[in-house]
Amino acid sequence: MNTFDFQTRYKLRPRVLRNVFSVDVSTTILDNKINFPICVSPMAAQRLVHPDGEKANARAAMEMGTCFGLSISASASLEEITSAAPEGLKFLQVDPLKELRILTSLIREGENKGFKGIILGADVAILRGRDTKEKTHPIFPPGMKMGIWEFLLAEYNKLMELEGRPSIVNMEYFRKEQPDSSRTWDLVQWLKNTTNLPIIIKGILTGEDARMAATLGVDAIIVSNHGGRQLEDAPATIDVLKEIVTAVEGQCEVYIDGGIRTGNDVFKALALGAKAVFIGRPMLWGIAYDGKDGAKKVLEILQKELKVTMALAGAPTIADIVEEMIVHESHFWAKN
Ligand SMILES: Cc1cc2nc3c(=O)[nH]c(=O)nc-3n(C[C@H](O)[C@H](O)[C@H](O)COP(=O)(O)O)c2cc1C
Repeated sequence: MNTFDFQTRYKLRPRVLRNVFSVDVSTTILDNKINFPICVSPMAAQRLVHPDGEKANARAAMEMGTCFGLSISASASLEEITSAAPEGLKFLQVDPLKELRILTSLIREGENKGFKGIILGADVAILRGRDTKEKTHPIFPPGMKMGIWEFLLAEYNKLMELEGRPSIVNMEYFRKEQPDSSRTWDLVQWLKNTTNLPIIIKGILTGEDARMAATLGVDAIIVSNHGGRQLEDAPATIDVLKEIVTAVEGQCEVYIDGGIRTGNDVFKALALGAKAVFIGRPMLWGIAYDGKDGAKKVLEILQKELKVTMALAGAPTIADIVEEMIVHESHFWAKN
């Protein structure tokens, strides 16, 4: 698990006597102010974990002043998320689909509901089978609906009716039929032509793809291996962060997720050039523990830990976190 890659493979080089009387962890992503650089990754079906699911995490992110990523496979609708976190900064994650007209409708809906960015899930050409799913057969709580997929299906059937073609009634079939593994980088261009919202591409792990994304004018990249849940033996995200930051030459913002579990991990990612980090599973553990308050607690702990690390490493502001403050552990090998 790449948690350990953050914690054991990278060491800090703290600077001292730097006036850290007051430490400011606030920053911006895509010109939106956030109180600290720790955002919430989009994750599917959060009602499996707590009855409030995504609503709890969206609300917690809003109350803490950070960004919430809503998965296309959320167990909540856009309306529910908007009313749970009306003023919160929210990005909407979409997947490559066959019928782009329904994706357009979804993006319009997101724009109208005040979402501030579209995250394209680029690492889901196919969805890897989850071994655990076969073993544990997760049971959906009664009444749990995939709110955004419900919207997409309704839009699809409206189109079919207009065109006199047969509608689809089976949601499970629709969700398997629509994802489109034949999509290419044209989809990024399509997104840029479809919306004025910033485009954030999620699931980039190489400098080559990062350069391609930057050349096509994406606004941000999330360096992500999908929490290690897609391609076995994909690299730890922290190990490829520098390559990606270097490749984009400042043309877009770079974020990272995967295995970030402590304030130190956040600091290390920022030192290697990330503008912010996203966290996934810890937010699910938070809502499992205590709904919205549990999710807030997770964010509070990480925020506090980041402040402590910044104070002890000699970085009173986010801008003061620089690459010289971190080394790969191999830095010390030759000397010992
Ligand atoms: C249960 C679960 C569901 C997920 N669902 C999605 C999803 O619907 N869309 C997506 O882009 N990423 C999804 N992810 C990946 C996360 O966005 C994120 O990349 C990953 O969880 C970050 O790693 P971490 O959990 O170690 O923090 C999911 C991850 C988990 C654990």
